[in-house]
Amino acid sequence: MEAPRAEEAAALSPDGWHIRPCFRKGSDPSSDSHLPDPFPAGIMGGVGSFLNPKRILQLGLGILILARPTCCAEDTYEAEANRLATLLNWQTGSVVADIGAGEGQMALLASSRVGAAGHVYATEVDPKKLAALGKLAREKMRVNLTVVQGAQDTTNLPRECCDSIFMRRVYHHFTDPAKIDPSLFQSLKPSGLLAVIDFPPRSGLPEVVGVPENRGGHGIPKNILINELTSAGFVVESVPKDWPSEDYCVIFRKPAP
Ligand SMILES: C[S@@+](CC[C@H](N)C(=O)[O-])C[C@H]1O[C@@H](n2cnc3c(N)ncnc32)[C@H](O)[C@@H]1O
Repeated sequence: MEAPRAEEAAALSPDGWHIRPCFRKGSDPSSDSHLPDPFPAGIMGGVGSFLNPKRILQLGLGILILARPTCCAEDTYEAEANRLATLLNWQTGSVVADIGAGEGQMALLASSRVGAAGHVYATEVDPKKLAALGKLAREKMRVNLTVVQGAQDTTNLPRECCDSIFMRRVYHHFTDPAKIDPSLFQSLKPSGLLAVIDFPPRSGLPEVVGVPENRGGHGIPKNILINELTSAGFVVESVPKDWPSEDYCVIFRKPAP
């Protein structure tokens, strides 16, 4: 009998939408042994013995695992951008910044919302992501999207350039919040809004090197995030309920002088 082909499954990283391939048990030494076996030995024993209730359940579970990564990643970015558009009042002509834009999914959605009369700044510190963001903006012909090299102590954005700023799963990576928080404040117009999407410390994720010791793991408790940003001058505008993927979102406002 021909050896069964290794089946790829995938797992959604809680820190982005990177897809981690997994292989059927036995096909790869680093396989996730908990994944259901789609080609059990019983398949050669006839349909009757194969299609018992346990097998049907295993197959159903396998299909769900295989289908999950693409649909959930896309749905989450769209859904989050839709909510941000309302919360941050994105309109044609708005100027918005995505701090730590990663692969640019949210920046692209924001650029569609604000249109040619508006503008989106997408910042990054990772040189590879900066290059990829520039390529993405060119390929998608987004003349309203500017890629900016950020830093740990400054956004590098023009002073008071933005009606709103958002960041998704980035704040807990900041190694110098005492410096970048005032820079975020400076980058916003008076009365401008800041949305921070993040998550409480989660187990099973790698250590984030260089961040303040009070984080308690990979992530940041919401109360610490609120304390730091209010110390920089922001006021809490709202805390929307039920953010996807067990993340939280806090909306801050820069008070008018
Ligand atoms: C977990 S990823 C999130 C990417 C994207 N926001 C998303 O939700 O898909 C965190 C990103 O923040 C970037 N980053 C970390 N510190 C930064 C800073 N001070 N300024 C800009 N980007 C930063 C990292 O390079 C990384 O791409």
